[in-house]
Amino acid sequence: MTLITGGFGGIGQTIAQDLAQKGGAKLVLTTRGATGSARVEAAVRQLEELGAEVLAVRAEVTSPEDMRRVVDEARARFGSLDVVMHAAGVTRDALIATKTDDDSWDVLAPKLLGTQALVSALAEHPAKQTVLFSSTSSVIGAAGQADYVAANEYLNAVARSAPAALGQVLAVNWGVWADAGMAARAAGLDRPASDAIVAPVGRPLLDDSQPMPGDASSASSCASKTGSSADTARLRGRR
Ligand SMILES: NC(=O)c1ccc[n+]([C@@H]2O[C@H](COP(=O)([O-])OP(=O)(O)OC[C@H]3O[C@@H](n4cnc5c(N)ncnc54)[C@H](OP(=O)(O)O)[C@@H]3O)[C@@H](O)[C@H]2O)c1
Repeated sequence: MTLITGGFGGIGQTIAQDLAQKGGAKLVLTTRGATGSARVEAAVRQLEELGAEVLAVRAEVTSPEDMRRVVDEARARFGSLDVVMHAAGVTRDALIATKTDDDSWDVLAPKLLGTQALVSALAEHPAKQTVLFSSTSSVIGAAGQADYVAANEYLNAVARSAPAALGQVLAVNWGVWADAGMAARAAGLDRPASDAIVAPVGRPLLDDSQPMPGDASSASSCASKTGSSADTARLRGRR
C-alpha cells in the first residue's frame, strides 16, 4: 500500500497512474481540498479504471492530527502501510526582499512540519520505505527560491538522518518536470498546445525594429516603428 501526500498534484498523479498501470496498486492520496470535488472524483475514477484501489483523504500535511488520521484510515482500509511518498509542496518564487513571512512559511511548512507530522504518525508502526520529494533546487540554489531551497535541503537532511519511523528513506532531488506539476504549470506547459502561452511568436522585437541609419542589414537596432522598444510579446509571457 502506498500513501502519497499531495497525491492529486501533477507528479503525485503521474506516479499514482504508473503504479495503477503496473497492477494491484492500493493507493491512499491526500488533498487539502474536498474529496467529493469533480477534480478529485475524476482522478480517482481514472485510477480505478486502471485497476487500482484508491482512498482519497482530505488532510493538511502540516497537521500531526490529520496525518495520524490518514495513517489510521489507510491501515483500516488496506491493513498495512508500506510506502510513503511525501510529495506535498508549494513554491512562492520571489526575491527575499519582496517575500512576506507568510509566503516563505507556505513553502517551508509542508516539507518541514509535514515530514515531522509523518514521523510522528508513523512512530509506533514505521513504514517500510519513504520517498521524500526534494528538488535539484537544493543543489542549484535558484534565484527567488531561498525558502524552497531550505525546505528541500531539510528533506535531504531527514533522509541522511533516516528516522526509524520512515523505514528506508530516500530523498529524490527531482529536476524540472516538463509536462506535469508545479514547474510545467508555471510555464503553461501542462495545457493543450493550443492554450499554451509559450507558443512561438518569432522575434517581434527585431521584426518591428527599424535599421539604424547607414546600417540597413543590422539586426541590433531597437528603434521601433511604434516608438517603443519593449518586447511586448515576451512581456505577455510568450516567447
Ligand atoms: N514539478 C517539478 O518540476 C518538481 C521538481 C522538483 C521537485 N518537485 C517536488 O515534487 C513535489 C510534487 O510537485 P508537483 O510538481 O506535483 O506539484 P503540484 O502539482 O503543485 O502538487 C503538489 C501538491 O501538494 C499539495 N500540498 C501543498 N501544500 C500542502 C499542504 N500544506 N498540505 C497538504 N498538501 C499540500 C497540493 O495538493 P492539494 O492542493 O490537493 O492539497 C498540491 O497539489 C513537490 O514537493 C515539489 O517540491 C517538483
